[in-house]
Amino acid sequence: MNISIVGTGYVGLVSGACFAELGAKVWCIDTNKQKIDNLKSGVIPIYEPGLDDLVHRNVKAGRLFFSTDLADSLNEVEMLFIAVGTPPGEDGSADLSYVIDVAEKIGQNLEKYLLVVTKSTVPVGSSRLVRNAIETELKKRDRNIEFDVASNPEFLKEGAAIDDFMKPDRVVVGVESERAKELMTHLYSPMMLNNFRVIFMDIPSSEMTKYAANAMLATRISFMNEIASLCEKVGADVTMVRKGIGSDNRIGNKFLYPGAGYGGSCFPKDVKALIRTGKDHNSPLTLLESVEAINERQKKVLFTKFSNHYRGEIKGKRAAIWGLSYKPGTDDMREAPSLTLINKLLDAGCTVSVYDPVAMEEAERRLGNTIRYASDIYDALRDADVLFHVTEWQEFRMPDWQKIRSLMKTPLLIDGRGVFNKTALEGIIYLRIG
Ligand SMILES: NC(=O)c1ccc[n+]([C@@H]2O[C@H](COP(=O)([O-])OP(=O)(O)OC[C@H]3O[C@@H](n4cnc5c(N)ncnc54)[C@H](O)[C@@H]3O)[C@@H](O)[C@H]2O)c1
Repeated sequence: MNISIVGTGYVGLVSGACFAELGAKVWCIDTNKQKIDNLKSGVIPIYEPGLDDLVHRNVKAGRLFFSTDLADSLNEVEMLFIAVGTPPGEDGSADLSYVIDVAEKIGQNLEKYLLVVTKSTVPVGSSRLVRNAIETELKKRDRNIEFDVASNPEFLKEGAAIDDFMKPDRVVVGVESERAKELMTHLYSPMMLNNFRVIFMDIPSSEMTKYAANAMLATRISFMNEIASLCEKVGADVTMVRKGIGSDNRIGNKFLYPGAGYGGSCFPKDVKALIRTGKDHNSPLTLLESVEAINERQKKVLFTKFSNHYRGEIKGKRAAIWGLSYKPGTDDMREAPSLTLINKLLDAGCTVSVYDPVAMEEAERRLGNTIRYASDIYDALRDADVLFHVTEWQEFRMPDWQKIRSLMKTPLLIDGRGVFNKTALEGIIYLRIG
């Protein structure tokens, strides 16, 4: 099977490499020339465990190709996936300009039947816009070429993306023709052999499923963050409460961890976009509005704990931060809680020293010389007045506490992930959420 994937980011590159691994011939297209040049010379633009090997193996096997021009391979493929970004617009709605740009290019170059599948997260109705954009361009060329649109939202998690793609809980596919259904069935048949569920539905339901899934997960996080705040006030321990409720089968134990707020490239923008869709259809999503407001508050909670500890006298204090990416396993810092914390610390006149196992380059690109980049976990906390644990990388799990005490000016640890055992931290002041 021949496939194009347009947009070679976290989703596009992982999907392309995985489809190639399953035997398809895949062209990964991106307008970012630097990215494509790097990929052609074997440089992987993102950190994702296992991705280097997968890409190199499939390039070598002659199944994975990279190009900046969609037109090059368009008439060699049976299906094309749109996997470009859909960032939030000013009013919170998903910005579809990249998606429509791809659709227009398809219409300008199409010569034979194509199935156009939207993998980007897009609001209900977007596949219709993709169809219209292709038709408009075909009309300009006075051509009548048959094509189908379909929706196949992606549910992979950064940090475990390859496993998620190869062994998904389910694959959701929205179609409106038998031909599209047959092609998608053929594409995902290796996964069906392994009994993974491919759920076919209409296109609007498929588009909505992606938003509803992310909104549900974000809701669980904000719910637990709010319960954690109350636990602090009433003398309950949120870790025990989490265990207590997570053992109920109806609730389950995933996504019940309080923390410094959800971040990343998906939850914040997808919650915003769904709220916008609700407003546009006069069906306000008041629960999600609260989820978002709780999250905004939560992103400031680590700073507030620090400021309260020093009774507001924090100007000139030295802060150390462990963990910059929005979660472990990735170098992605989009909407990372670490950024909110760093900005608040700098605004308050503190100096900041940071360490992250993989996101240092990305941090430097975003923050330049406003902070100090440490060489390891201990280098970060020399003479520090506080250590913030923001991202729960494995590397931070069992540090040498004695060394930490001796290196810090004031041994204050503020744990945004609640992973340390208070009794093991003798001599260290330990504050956590909940
Ligand atoms: N990152 C995730 O964990 C994740 C998970 C599920 C779904 N999604 C969704 O998938 C989509 C892509 O997300 P991502 O994180 O991979 O984004 P990304 O920013 O990492 O990658 C998007 C890529 O698209 C390219 N691009 C933009 N316009 C283009 C065009 N006209 N032609 C060709 N390439 C173009 C960009 O240069 C960029 O490399 C978004 O809608 C996102 O919500 C992301």
